[in-house]
Amino acid sequence: MPLLKLVYYSHHPALHKIAEPVDQFDDKLAHLVQDMYETMYHENGVGLAAPQVGIAKKIATIDVSEERNQPFVIINPQIIESSGSELMTAGCLSIPGSFDKVPRATYVKVRAQNEKGDFFEIEGTGLLAHCLQHEIDHLYGKLYIDYLSPLKKRMWLKKMEKHLKREQ
Ligand code: NI
Repeated sequence: MPLLKLVYYSHHPALHKIAEPVDQFDDKLAHLVQDMYETMYHENGVGLAAPQVGIAKKIATIDVSEERNQPFVIINPQIIESSGSELMTAGCLSIPGSFDKVPRATYVKVRAQNEKGDFFEIEGTGLLAHCLQHEIDHLYGKLYIDYLSPLKKRMWLKKMEKHLKREQ
């Protein structure tokens, strides 16, 4: 299973547009989901959305368990219920080196499909709620820094470019 290559904020158009819905639930999709799991673990992320590896499709993988052994995929997800509001600290594999507080619902219920196309619902609070919102935002071309002031956004993007240079 190959690792997928991450793309970074403003370096790839997939991160900035509404992703296409998935309508083919075939072997190719199942393989992509497996590769996304592997890439998510390799990068130490709690979630990974397909646009973050340059694929503009409505697919995201999540694992918020401490043991890192409870992955699941949400395909064509929709938030069907949400409540509460709190500031939560976010980071993102697409903006390495950045982290900041963003407003999030404290509870969400999501309806999505799995890699076989079966519909399911998942609800969560805390980190799971935060992660579901963050990954679903990715599928609509929205990154967490879009919630920040233009000044802060510019600051994090500058820091990111420095961070990427160091990593090269
Ligand atoms: Ni992200």
